[in-house]
Amino acid sequence: MPQIITVTNQKGGVGKTALAVHIAAYASMAAKKKTLLVDMDGQRNATFITTGEPNGRGKSVLDLWDGDTSLEFQDTRFGDLKILPGHQHVHLVEKQGLKAGQEAMSRLLNIDFDVVVIDTPPAAGVQQLAPLYLGGLLAAPVEPDLLALQGLTSLLKVWREIASQVDLGLSLVINKRVLNSTNQQMVVDAITESGFGQHVLPVHLTNRQIVSNAMKQGMPVWKLDPKDAAAAKWAMACKMILETDGVPTEETVKEG
Ligand SMILES: Nc1ncnc2c1ncn2[C@@H]1O[C@H](COP(=O)(O)OP(=O)(O)O)[C@@H](O)[C@H]1O
Ligand SMILES: [Mg+2]
Repeated sequence: MPQIITVTNQKGGVGKTALAVHIAAYASMAAKKKTLLVDMDGQRNATFITTGEPNGRGKSVLDLWDGDTSLEFQDTRFGDLKILPGHQHVHLVEKQGLKAGQEAMSRLLNIDFDVVVIDTPPAAGVQQLAPLYLGGLLAAPVEPDLLALQGLTSLLKVWREIASQVDLGLSLVINKRVLNSTNQQMVVDAITESGFGQHVLPVHLTNRQIVSNAMKQGMPVWKLDPKDAAAAKWAMACKMILETDGVPTEETVKEG
């Protein structure tokens, strides 16, 4: 059974796609794991970044909902990394409900991969929730602005609810950190001093132009400039996320 990492947060623009792409790239290219990236977002940014094509060719995530169809994975320009591309009409699966979504996702447990990384859209619907029922790890990039705490509360509620049913770990990844911002510092302190502090990844990712440049050029930051400080940080964060135990303890589930 593959290791499952679902990258999610109900806020847009916090770095879900950037993080999903980097975790998948790290797992495939540095950790040499047989890795699949799954693009559950109808915007298909992860598909575009990793393949250079706005529309995935051929099969897509929609085929997960068609139990009679075999799955096919597409090559990427990230070495051996494979992708199950997104689809612009993936939102249609919402109508089929969460149970159908869980069943569709469960096909990912039977594929011959070591690691499956799932990028999700910001809306808390089937596309975002169904992958979490696979268990594994919920990795949430958190941009520490003043609205983050509010967003985090609803995300943590979702995690607690699902983690009470399946083994689902949690990793909160501080992203887009601006080091001299006192407002951000307050938010980061509030999160790390909360009951969820133990879930905060110790490596904080800073707001750096090189990240969006790398995404635009379709490569991880460590490929665009291996000497940039962001390269080592993103690689370290991805390594730690991949090594995070996906199984929460009783205490972490009950907490808060
Ligand atoms: N640490 C960072 N520094 C600078 N830009 C970032 C960082 N993380 C993400 N970005 C950029 O911010 C934008 C939104 O990120 P994205 O991963 O698309 O967010 P989401 O998938 O949550 O909507 C993208 O242009 C992305 O390249
Ligand atoms: Mg995205």
